[in-house]
Amino acid sequence: MATARVRGIEMAYDDVGRGPAVVLLHGFPFNRSMWDEQRKALAESYRVITPDLRGMGETAGGDGPATMDEMAHDVAALMDKLGVERAAVGGLSMGGYVTLAFYRRHRLRARALLLADTRAGADTDEARKTREEQARKILKDGTTALADDFLKKALTPETLAERPLVVARVREMIRKTDARGAANALRGMAVRLDQTSFLEDVLVPTLILVGSEDQLTPPKEAETLRREIRGSRLEVIENASHLSNVERPEEFNRALKTFLDELQP
Ligand code: MLT
Repeated sequence: MATARVRGIEMAYDDVGRGPAVVLLHGFPFNRSMWDEQRKALAESYRVITPDLRGMGETAGGDGPATMDEMAHDVAALMDKLGVERAAVGGLSMGGYVTLAFYRRHRLRARALLLADTRAGADTDEARKTREEQARKILKDGTTALADDFLKKALTPETLAERPLVVARVREMIRKTDARGAANALRGMAVRLDQTSFLEDVLVPTLILVGSEDQLTPPKEAETLRREIRGSRLEVIENASHLSNVERPEEFNRALKTFLDELQP
């Protein structure tokens, strides 16, 4: 693990491997360790950079809502620090919201996008209300208060019943997430823009991945991304829910590596 001073916060990240740069952004309420399998699989041919987004993992939080644009600017500033001009940039769920914000604000710095288990739309009023309730609950009782509910939505019933190590790993990521950082991220997601009309402006190769059983960002959201982003490719990861990269790393890595290997140098 390394850290860099970026836009007033100390940002933790891993930077491994050699080759064209790939930046992977984690979801909520997780941290960069969710990319462990991808980091291992890609590092032979790529330079893989996985930051903890602000307030999450080992990265310090700022004050107030951690907006998707703030997080995207943090990623661009980290790339500056690491001497990375352009990278394939991708994220899962909240990481995908940040990826789209990154492209909107720093488009020349993305040579390709990965959008996994995510959506372009904004929250409904109802979803915003739920986020605020969750933020208050977390600030009062800690992030573990959300763990059971979140696990049920993020993993398939099969994984929940039969893969205790995967369940324990996800629970541990949630437990380690700082309450204030999580509340700030929830409030940041609640005010994020609807980026749907912007999708037609995405002009770089884009891979969209989604778990066939994803309830939080269902395959129909991925289909919207595919329809609106010219030339994009959608692959459905079978028998996976929202955390498709954690539940089905082999399938996820195969799709991601094939996509990256096909990019023009
Ligand atoms: C995530 O996995 O990042 C979250 O489920 C995203 C969200 O709550 O919208």
